Parts: sequence; C-alpha cells; structure tokens
Amino acid sequence: MKILIFGAGYLGNRCAEEWIHEGHEVIVSPIRVQSVEDALRGIHTHKPEAVFNAAGVKGTPNVDWCEDHVLETIRGNTVLPLLIADACQQENVYFLHIGSGCVYYGDSSHADKLWREHDHANPSVVYSRSKYAADLALATFKNVGIARIRMPLDSKPSPGNLIDKIVSYPEVIDVENSVTIVDDMVEVFRQLIEKKGEGIFHVTNPGTIRHREILDLYHEIVDPEHTCHWITNEDLVKRGLAKKGRSNNFLASERLAELGITMRPIKEALRDTLEKYARAKQSCRCEDCDGGCGCCGS
Ligand SMILES: NC(=O)c1ccc[n+]([C@@H]2O[C@H](COP(=O)([O-])OP(=O)(O)OC[C@H]3O[C@@H](n4cnc5c(N)ncnc54)[C@H](OP(=O)(O)O)[C@@H]3O)[C@@H](O)[C@H]2O)c1
Repeated sequence: MKILIFGAGYLGNRCAEEWIHEGHEVIVSPIRVQSVEDALRGIHTHKPEAVFNAAGVKGTPNVDWCEDHVLETIRGNTVLPLLIADACQQENVYFLHIGSGCVYYGDSSHADKLWREHDHANPSVVYSRSKYAADLALATFKNVGIARIRMPLDSKPSPGNLIDKIVSYPEVIDVENSVTIVDDMVEVFRQLIEKKGEGIFHVTNPGTIRHREILDLYHEIVDPEHTCHWITNEDLVKRGLAKKGRSNNFLASERLAELGITMRPIKEALRDTLEKYARAKQSCRCEDCDGGCGCCGS
C-alpha cells in the first residue's frame, strides 16, 4: 500500500514507523495544509492509494489551550480535515482521519451507558466541538473513514503517551474510561485503510480501565518506587489543575466488527503494553532522556 500521511506529529510518525516496518510505502508529508490546493499538491506528487490525516491541534501543554485559541483550533481540527477530504474526493482517493472519542461526556442513554458510533455527541469544550464538527461533515462522504481514539496508551515511551503523562503528574484523578492501545490502533488503522472503511469507527479496546489500574500495573511492572496522590475529578478544575472538566466515557466499538476487525480486551492489552514499555525503558541508552522520552528510538 502507498499511504500519504499529513501530520508529522506523535501519531502520524508512530503509524508511519510501523507501516514502513511492515513493508508499506509511506510518505509523511512536510506540507503545511492551508488550502485544498496544498492537499492536492501532496496527492499529485505521490499518487497514494490512501491519504491518512494525523494532523490536528491538541493544544500545548493540553486542550485547555484551545479555549483561548478558538480560531486556530477550528482551523486545525475542523477546516483542515475538510480541505484534505475535498482533495481526496476530487482525486477519488480513500481518506482516513483520526477523530477523538472525547466528543462524549459522561454516560450514554443506553442501558449499558456505552456510546455507539451513531450516537449524537455532547461535546462541551472547544477541542471536542472542533473534532465533532469535522466528524459530522466527514461522515457524509463516501470513501472517507473517521477513526475515533481515546487516551492513547503506548508500549513506546513518548510525551504523548498516557502512561508517561499520568506518571508525570504528582496528583492524578481516578477515572474510568475507554482507551486505545497504540500498538493495536496502528494495526486497526492499516486494516481500515486496506478495507476502505467508511463512516465513524470507535478504535478503542473492549472494556474500560481506571487510571488507578494503569498506575497499579506501572508500579508492578515498570517502577515499584512510583507514587502519586489521588484526587477526585471535580478537584481537577476546583484546584486550578485544569481550566475545564475532561471528557470521561465508555465507548462501544460496534462498526469494526462489520469489517472483521478486532481489538484485544483492554486488561490483556494493557499488561502486554506495560511489559513492552518496561523493556523499552530498560534498553534506552540515551543520555538526554533518562530512559523516559523515547527520543533514542528504543
Ligand atoms: N494524542 C491523543 O491523545 C489523541 C487522542 C484523540 C485524538 N487525537 C487526534 O489525533 C490527531 C493527531 O494527534 P497527535 O497526538 O499525533 O498530535 P500532534 O503530536 O500534535 O501532531 C499533530 C501534527 O499536526 C501538525 N499540523 C497541525 N496543523 C497542520 C497543518 N495545517 N498541516 C499539516 N500539519 C499540521 C502539527 O504540526 P505543528 O506541531 O508544527 O503545528 C503536528 O505535527 C489529532 O487530530 C488529535 O486530535 C489524539
């Protein structure tokens, strides 16, 4: 497969690395997409079989940034995917876009509380609204897939990895969520591209996990010295640690099965991920990152 990726950030590069390793031809485009013509230029140059959008705006240091940078956020998360989709439609190229499961807040109205792909979302903050607006428009196209992920947990240390994030916080909220194991996500994305999956897909591992369970396993497998202080979800905003409350939710992934795509149950996948993560940290020889940031590629 020849895949053109827009977005040379954490997930774009992570997918590229794995797909190249599997023998696919992958181009991570250096183009800053600000128009349909920019996206068309990338497509005309490389003539890919599929385009993958991993470009977007998450805010620095976190999504609270989006509250004060509305225009940049809408441009990056709503307008940008539509520009790329426009180019792909013109050239009849399949387009897969990374969406976010953080468009849902709290429990769904279903008896099991899980949100389905066809459920209308209830986003409140600017980041979630900007992502959902793109989903609504993109889901109307043929030959376009939207792969919603949540809280990526990665076997490779990285600042974008939820493991690294919660380990770095002295105070952590103990919330329960659907999450995405990155090793599984990369494989699911590849299958979605090969099968040209259309519409919205929840790319989350079956089951839910609490932050406390992640850190208990981290303590057992990676670092027995690690400690943190537990706070409530409400404390996050009350104590000024976040500007707006975060999305916590449970997602049902029903549409992947239509294409014969499966993901490992979260408890099984998390242990495997932390074992690999521990090995990656042990084998890291980089003097700059103290074995933690993965910058030496281990
Ligand atoms: N990581 C998560 O926790 C998570 C969870 C759910 C969904 N997602 C979604 O997954 C996507 C990728 O996330 P990520 O973690 O890989 O974020 P990331 O590391 O910030 O990467 C995003 C990349 O997109 C680039 N970009 C922004 N605007 C662009 C444009 N107009 N043209 C080309 N590139 C542009 C950014 O470049 P600059 O940095 O130079 O601006 C950055 O390299 C985002 O859409 C995000 O909403 C991520």
